[in-house]
Amino acid sequence: MGFPSTNAPTVFTAFGATGDLMRLKVIPALFKLYEKGELPTQFSVVGFSRRDYTDAQFREHVREALGHIENAKDLSSFLELFQFQRGQFNEKESYASLQKTLAAQDATWGVCANKLFYLASSPEFFDAILHNLAESGLTDPCDDGSGWSRVIVEKPFGVDYDSARKLDALLGELFEEQQIYRIDHYLAKEMLQNILTFRFANSLFELNWDKDFIERIDMRLLEEVGCEKRGASYDGVGALRDVGQNHLLQMIALIAMEHPQSFDAAQLRLKRAELLQALTLPSENNIRRATFRAQYEGYRSIAGVREDSDTETYFRVLTSIDTDRWRGVPIAIESGKRLGEPVKEIVVTMRHPVPCLCPGEHHKNRIIFRMEPKEEILVEFWSRKPGLSMETEERTFHFLLRERKAQTRYTEEYMRLLLDSIRGEQTLFISTDEIQAMWRFTDPIIAGWKKGLVPLETYPVDRKDITAAATVRVL
Ligand code: BG6
Repeated sequence: MGFPSTNAPTVFTAFGATGDLMRLKVIPALFKLYEKGELPTQFSVVGFSRRDYTDAQFREHVREALGHIENAKDLSSFLELFQFQRGQFNEKESYASLQKTLAAQDATWGVCANKLFYLASSPEFFDAILHNLAESGLTDPCDDGSGWSRVIVEKPFGVDYDSARKLDALLGELFEEQQIYRIDHYLAKEMLQNILTFRFANSLFELNWDKDFIERIDMRLLEEVGCEKRGASYDGVGALRDVGQNHLLQMIALIAMEHPQSFDAAQLRLKRAELLQALTLPSENNIRRATFRAQYEGYRSIAGVREDSDTETYFRVLTSIDTDRWRGVPIAIESGKRLGEPVKEIVVTMRHPVPCLCPGEHHKNRIIFRMEPKEEILVEFWSRKPGLSMETEERTFHFLLRERKAQTRYTEEYMRLLLDSIRGEQTLFISTDEIQAMWRFTDPIIAGWKKGLVPLETYPVDRKDITAAATVRVL
């Protein structure tokens, strides 16, 4: 069509356009991209939802989501990109109307625009939306073969292995894998993207990145926030499904994957998937010995949470990777809500060399990749204390990537993800193989907990006592 691929006319259709995902994450990210001139010159957003909105009301909703914006000119031209399509997710007629809206946009521009469909609705509607998209022909290319269509799927991607496979099968009927963009916003975090650069662009550590040099790896995603605003949707899901099955396992993949031949999407996705497939699948015995779960005090009185809920708001799981590079190295993943000051980091502890001319107990060097409270990389090491006596002291090489982000939470990650989905860059999106491997790992733990193999502990809020207790039980 004569357009560079990143600037081709594009229509972004959002299902669930008036929900929280759009309001908190997508609308602010789209606005920032717009301000920076990163969106295609011809770009339009069609909001699809059940509400009885006019275009003007929808634009008002978008304006409210943005809060105060200094540049009124940018804001008003940005709002003009938005139009509203009232519809029911399970009604064919709604998709016929959407078809007309998109055709009218094509006619205005005089092109066959690219179509990006974003599933921001509650996951219970994914099935209906995907079927209707297929049947209405909305994802078909234009007669001359121009105009791509792609779909962005939000987490949760299924609730277990079977449901994720089913969802993927449905997606597979409609789209090729290159058209499917499964979101895990952790992959778009600056610090996590930086792990690959740190590892593969520097020979300093990568040559020693294995079981002979690394003693253990600990991943933490300790949150200050609780579930107070989302009791009904969190209850029954729990911390392991919410952030373990996806974000923490992806952190393992990045820190431990084999060397990719290049930084292209196919290679990186393949290497992440291979690593995830090599995680040791937990047996009942492992689950008893190497997993821990707890719930914070007061969780059951949150609106929408069952009075006798056994949903975990904290977990710790110890695992390992069954490859020549990593066999025998303990890898702990841990996450919880209402734990006071947030700590999100990966700690790589190096082995003690033998023999070692090093000070007593505390010698082990550590490399820390930290996302919160600050984005930084630390390398802890021992140094001679200046002076006449032979004494050593612990020092740290410190690389501060940035102070705590000033931006609204998620905006930066969603800018990256939305832009990449427009550009057709799939590196930061998870593949079907990764999805399956991740559920295969967490399913047995969730089933084991359901069977009562591990008791559900409780913990006081806004303190980290539970993390110490869990470390004693599952080291
Ligand atoms: C989301 C979870 O995927 O990730 C939330 O649903 C969690 O429960 C969040 O709070 C953590 O992400 P971040 O970017 O705030 O660390």
